[in-house]
Amino acid sequence: MKVLGINGSPRIGGNTDILLDKVLEGAKAKGARIEKVVLNTLKFSPCQECQDTRDDGTCLIEDDMQALYKKIEKADAIILASPIFFGSLSAQTKMMIDRFQCLWRAKYILKKDVFKRKKRSGYFLSVEASAREDFFDNARAIVKNLFAAIGADYKGELFCSGVEGKGSILKHPDVLGKAFELGKRSNSHI
Ligand SMILES: Cc1cc2nc3c(=O)[nH]c(=O)nc-3n(C[C@H](O)[C@H](O)[C@H](O)COP(=O)(O)O)c2cc1C
Repeated sequence: MKVLGINGSPRIGGNTDILLDKVLEGAKAKGARIEKVVLNTLKFSPCQECQDTRDDGTCLIEDDMQALYKKIEKADAIILASPIFFGSLSAQTKMMIDRFQCLWRAKYILKKDVFKRKKRSGYFLSVEASAREDFFDNARAIVKNLFAAIGADYKGELFCSGVEGKGSILKHPDVLGKAFELGKRSNSHI
């Protein structure tokens, strides 16, 4: 069982990072092989809306996304984590999601399922300074679109409002406890 965490925050050791680590810790405690990718450390471009797209669902742009496509395809569970920036996902997270347009086209237009694995779970984590439920709703809607395209069942989510300073989520042990439990569940949902 392989659990892949994807951090869409630029702040290493920040609230998203801490929350994601706690989930991965829970998954590891249940015996999962875990891996974390920090989008902000990757070199990749936003979607270029290429006209000469490939019909096999793969992307033409040769950058760090190519390795990430493979990691996502091989994962049994994806934990996508993003802070709320201006009412929705961070730019890093959205930029990664847009790069799945090639796969979306193959799946929905050409009716080819590129990610052939039968089952994959998806979980979404998010944090924000305010207490705006609608911001999490915005972010969730986009993440659900991604998960549908990559064949990941939306199995769970965990949000934390009212955290702004770096690491301030550490003052919310209840949320971190839930994150650990979510991580444990992520290893048994397939
Ligand atoms: C560019 C930017 C935009 C933000 N926009 C919002 C927002 O719209 N609503 C909100 O509640 N918090 C917003 N925040 C605050 C972050 O969501 C909050 O500080 C969060 O804990 C950061 O997570 P991190 O430590 O993982 O980066 C914003 C922060 C930044 C840097």
